[in-house]
Amino acid sequence: MLNIAVLVSGGGTNLQAIIDAIADGTIQNTRICLVLSNNDGVYALERAKKAGLESCVLSPRSFPSREAFNHALLQKVQESGADLVVLAGFLCVIPEEMVRAYENRILNIHPSLIPSFCGTGYYGLKVHEAALERGVKISGATVHFVDSGTDTGPILLQKAVEVQSDDTPKSLQRRIMEQAEWKILPQAIDLIAHGRVSVENRKVIVQ
Ligand code: GRF
Repeated sequence: MLNIAVLVSGGGTNLQAIIDAIADGTIQNTRICLVLSNNDGVYALERAKKAGLESCVLSPRSFPSREAFNHALLQKVQESGADLVVLAGFLCVIPEEMVRAYENRILNIHPSLIPSFCGTGYYGLKVHEAALERGVKISGATVHFVDSGTDTGPILLQKAVEVQSDDTPKSLQRRIMEQAEWKILPQAIDLIAHGRVSVENRKVIVQ
């Protein structure tokens, strides 16, 4: 059984996709052992509650320093017994100590086809604004492992989504969520739960 900790900051639609995929058997052999949010009052926490999941809030603001927050974050995840950490729209930088402790065991979902529109400053609607500004005809989503860079870790899955001529950042964001993110994040977790994923020379191998 794969224990996963899901880290969130907002609406939690990706968390919901994971919850639903576990319920309908799309993700097998997996249990959510913790939902952790850095923001109080976000809808992701409501989703966790409705699903009867263990949840907690750790806000950087309630710690005397960033180091203290980073330490508490790692401790909480370790205490949960998580084998895999899933960043589902988590907007805090993952501390170096956590990247080391969970090497190739932290998954992130990014709403573009990496290496396009990723890295520092590319989050939320900004990603889609940049894609539309550049005039790309195809965008999509990427699931990758987290390393010490921003969106630079080994890529596990990607899915392309067509950009439409009348897209706004919001409509493109929504379509990428529906057609790509909510599919490939559960799929990635299921592959890991089946022991089919390994990383060699910073490249992901799926068996
Ligand atoms: C998603 O677009 C995800 O790709 C990005 O943050 C957003 C989170 O949305 N990293 P939600 O909280 O899962 O609804």
